[in-house]
Amino acid sequence: MLEEARERTLVLIAPLSEQDLHLQHDPLMSPVIWDLGHIAHFEDLWLTRNLDGPVEFVEMPGLYNPFENPRRVRGTLALPSSSESRAEMEEIRARVLDRLRGADLEDGSALLRDGYVYAMVAQHEYQHNETILQTLQLKTGAPYRAPRRVRVPSAPAVVPNDGEMVRFPGGRVTIGTDDRTAAYDNERPRHVVALAPFWIDVHPVTNGAYLAFMEAGGYDTRQWWSDAGWQWLKDARVQAPKHWQRDGDGWSTRSMDLVERVDPAKPVCHVCYHEADAFARWAGKRLPTEAEWEAAASWDPVAGRARAYPWGDDPATTDLANVDQLSFGTARVGAYPRNVSPIGCRGMIGDVWEWTSSDFSGYPGFASYPYREYSEVFFGDEYKVLRGGSWATRPGAIRNTFRNWDYPIRRQIFSGFRCARSEP
Ligand SMILES: [Fe+2]
Repeated sequence: MLEEARERTLVLIAPLSEQDLHLQHDPLMSPVIWDLGHIAHFEDLWLTRNLDGPVEFVEMPGLYNPFENPRRVRGTLALPSSSESRAEMEEIRARVLDRLRGADLEDGSALLRDGYVYAMVAQHEYQHNETILQTLQLKTGAPYRAPRRVRVPSAPAVVPNDGEMVRFPGGRVTIGTDDRTAAYDNERPRHVVALAPFWIDVHPVTNGAYLAFMEAGGYDTRQWWSDAGWQWLKDARVQAPKHWQRDGDGWSTRSMDLVERVDPAKPVCHVCYHEADAFARWAGKRLPTEAEWEAAASWDPVAGRARAYPWGDDPATTDLANVDQLSFGTARVGAYPRNVSPIGCRGMIGDVWEWTSSDFSGYPGFASYPYREYSEVFFGDEYKVLRGGSWATRPGAIRNTFRNWDYPIRRQIFSGFRCARSEP
């Protein structure tokens, strides 16, 4: 797993020059060389130093400690050259694999049992791969030459019944997981939630539907926006999703080095929570809570159990969903016929992260593990939860219970949404 994770990291950075690796392309994002050093030192902390005795996350070297050096200052740090960085990554990896040979994965500590800490470190690298892709989408200078290796399946260019919804019958459902082989602390513990019946969109909101909102004056109509959303809109002064540009009387959009006319059948991407919320009000709907989202993705009302993925318990693959990065963009909705949940929601895993209306907080009985700085320090009302992963998510870092979170104003992430509605 570790070697495969590293292989992918190297595929993604291969097209980048020394300068591209070191530039701070956007104040929101780290220079890519920082991500590489951080990946390596995170691994050193958990897979070598931790085996010699318990470690704290704050023991990460200052240069690569995300709390000591927020993203906007990382371009000013004395970061190594790419060859120095590669040498450091290899040196740490060699020590990690050496220690792995003697590690007791059966009767060892809870961290070692079933290789949990190794899965955690691999997952961390997967997640930084997606962060790096956000940076590359914001890259200054020549666009990133994306190594496109996966073609997404085709689907009709017009979405029949755009905005169609399915009903969730309500009732007591299980949310979260007790898994201790891969899940993060914030996904635990599994607990019962009582849900009222609700309706939820079959597909994520498409560009076509979002264009209708824009053409109806959505960005200029106060009534669709929350107070915070309207304030954001006045400050940000945007009229379209990020990375959209006017193209004659229409719009085009860019994914890395590919510019295309906005495809009405693809899910809208690069919108913030406030835009998603405004669209939902305009459509006479609302955003789902994260429990509603998870129930719509996982709960089988007939079997009375939750699935790990919409289609069942088999992990995500590029045959099942638009995940794993190498398509370098979204697919038209409905392009993956097996990506369907028990109640009939499509495309919940892959393509775009989906905003929910929920703040990021701990489940009842939450216990931080193995370090507070992954989840707990972010709990509160500042962040909104996103679900489902995007095309830029590696399969090992997505499942129905996986929780992502970000500020409601963020649009550099690969984010879209689908809407819900309460039953009258
Ligand atoms: Fe990290």
